[in-house]
Amino acid sequence: MNILLIGSGGREHALAWAISASSLCTKLYCAPGNAGMAEVSDCVALLAEDHQAVIGFCQDNDIGFVVVGPEAPLVDGLADSLTDAGFKTFGPSRLAAQLEGSKGFTKDLCQRHNIPTAAYCRFSNEADAMAYVQVQGAPIVVKADGLAAGKGVIMAETVEEAGTAITEIFSGKFGDAGIEVVIEEMLVGEEASLFAFSDGTHVTAFGTAQDHKRVGDGDTGLNTGGMGAYSPAPVMDEAMCERAMAEIIEPTIKAMADEGMPYRGVLYAGLMITDKGPELIEYNCRFGDPECQVLMMRLKDDIVTLMLAACDGTIDKVSVRWRDEAALCVVMAAAGYPGSVEKGSQISGLEVAAEPGDVEIFHAGTKAVEKVIQANGGRVLNICALGDTVGAAQRLAYEAVSKIDWPEGFCRWDIGWRAVERENQPS
Ligand code: AMP
Ligand code: GLY
Repeated sequence: MNILLIGSGGREHALAWAISASSLCTKLYCAPGNAGMAEVSDCVALLAEDHQAVIGFCQDNDIGFVVVGPEAPLVDGLADSLTDAGFKTFGPSRLAAQLEGSKGFTKDLCQRHNIPTAAYCRFSNEADAMAYVQVQGAPIVVKADGLAAGKGVIMAETVEEAGTAITEIFSGKFGDAGIEVVIEEMLVGEEASLFAFSDGTHVTAFGTAQDHKRVGDGDTGLNTGGMGAYSPAPVMDEAMCERAMAEIIEPTIKAMADEGMPYRGVLYAGLMITDKGPELIEYNCRFGDPECQVLMMRLKDDIVTLMLAACDGTIDKVSVRWRDEAALCVVMAAAGYPGSVEKGSQISGLEVAAEPGDVEIFHAGTKAVEKVIQANGGRVLNICALGDTVGAAQRLAYEAVSKIDWPEGFCRWDIGWRAVERENQPS
């Protein structure tokens, strides 16, 4: 069948790579795509905001399945529009995507259904939020309620910092995402991500990963969309995965179904593994970026079969098998990221860097200008490798990084440090 994939980041290049390898895929289109995705698909200039244009494209090109990569079109109801027009679509409905689209919605759902998460309060005015922070004290976490591209979370070490964050959010720093503020207790522990596929009723675990959100080595500096990731997450051993599924993900899927908003698609739980066990930090209604890249490197089964099962109500009938190796992804970003960056610098050496069989380079913000690859965004390339250990995958990934000629780019040099440290500990 013909498949349309919506998105243009590293996550979508990894999905395009996996989807195009499926025996179920006759032809893959990506909208809008990037230079890397153009190597495995036909890129088309469609705006995800224009639901009618997407539907028209599906009608004209005999599309049998649509996969929506990023959160914004899902929160905006693209999956509903496509489904209503008769196109099978992977990705939750607008109501179900509230799990990512509104932090307050998710916190209230957790409270109603006893799902472990940090203590919190929601506020729609500055004075009440300030008074709450005064009483609670610091450290404390201040969040804009809506989608803010990973930037709407402020980990305040002092009451003053929390106050500044509250004022900034209510004065429109994050636009409509900041009409409401969620203030929560700061959880302490190790962070990990657990992914699950749900068809609305059934749910099955789909791998674990850990990412590095801070821009600098040693997990320092500003928060980013993610500077690297690895899978599996050592802290998510079988017992911890089972607990997180039983205590967090399964009750969420049941609650969403019971409340008339069945969740179909991939659910990404950001967890904190605390002394008490796993607690939910946040949900995302899509794959993580760059977590998706390492999951696709390790997945043995056909991704299209799994995605179709989530749409068809048969996710309990499919198996998910993984390669034994660990996968690691190093993000290369343009100088200045996560602040403003210059576009248009030239990148070379990608073919040589991607030569080893266990290395894949996924593009994020790139564009091809007469066959020359140019940087066209903040996060630009994802250098991924498989290895027998996280340490081995890390070595291979950085060998590939060193073959890339891009003076205007940078990366972190310690992706996977926590897992590598664990591996190196005498047992
Ligand atoms: P979010 O966008 O909600 O994932 O938050 C971004 C990052 O902020 C998370 O990956 C955590 O590192 C951190 N964070 C968010 N909420 C909390 C919390 N309640 N306690 C500790 N860390 C948090
Ligand atoms: N890497 C974090 C995210 O995709 O939200």
